[in-house]
Order: sequence, then C-alpha cells, then structure tokens
Amino acid sequence: MNMYQQHIMEHYGNPCNYGTVQDCTHQHTDFNPLCGDEVTIQVKVEDDKVVNVGFTCKGCAISKASTSMLTEHVEGKGVEIVKNIKNEDMMQMLNIPISPSRVNCVLLGLVAIKKALYGVEHAEH
Ligand code: FES
Repeated sequence: MNMYQQHIMEHYGNPCNYGTVQDCTHQHTDFNPLCGDEVTIQVKVEDDKVVNVGFTCKGCAISKASTSMLTEHVEGKGVEIVKNIKNEDMMQMLNIPISPSRVNCVLLGLVAIKKALYGVEHAEH
C-alpha cells in the first residue's frame, strides 16, 4: 500500500466529521445510481459560513474517504467558496489515480454538499 492509499484508508477508518449535525440549516442525501451507495451531508451555515458540517454514508472506501476529506476542507469556509469547489479539486484532495468508473465515488460528497447548499430537495439522476 502506498502512502496515498494509506491516507485514504485512514480517512475511511477514522473519518472526520462523521455523524449528524443536530442544528443543521442545510442537508442533502445523494446517491450513486450505479452502485446504490449514499452520502448524507448536514451543514450549519451562519453568516454565510460553514460553521459545522457532518456526514453519514453507506458506501465504498473512496466515497467515504473523499467525503471525509471534503468536510475537513469546507469547515469554516464561506458558502460561495464551497459552492465553487470543482471536481478537479476533489481529485487533487484524494491524490491517487482514479479510474473513470470510480470518479462518481469521489464526487458523491461534493454533489451532496452542493445540493444541500443550493437547497435542492431531491437528487436528480
Ligand atoms: Fe459506490 Fe463508490 S462504489 S460510491
């Protein structure tokens, strides 16, 4: 196992911000229709900033680890900044080669947090 894979396994085994945010202001559950994995993200926004974020998921190591890294990254950031996180930014955070079939695993948490912040009630697939 190389050090990047190890980084992913650490986030998978001991994810950051895993759990619910009782007083969240935004939340969304998204799923990957190809595999059925799902991620729920809850965010508390105050003064246009993400002051608290939590997630729960049923899924693979990559979706869990990348959502964990994402929540670590967005804590304390402005809502507009989070809405503008790009798919490439997620790939950079993960920092391992990802096969095309797993790209959606990496992006699941990002899709969920954006839909939460944009107030999309239902995932469109
Ligand atoms: Fe389903 Fe990764 S295999 S999100």
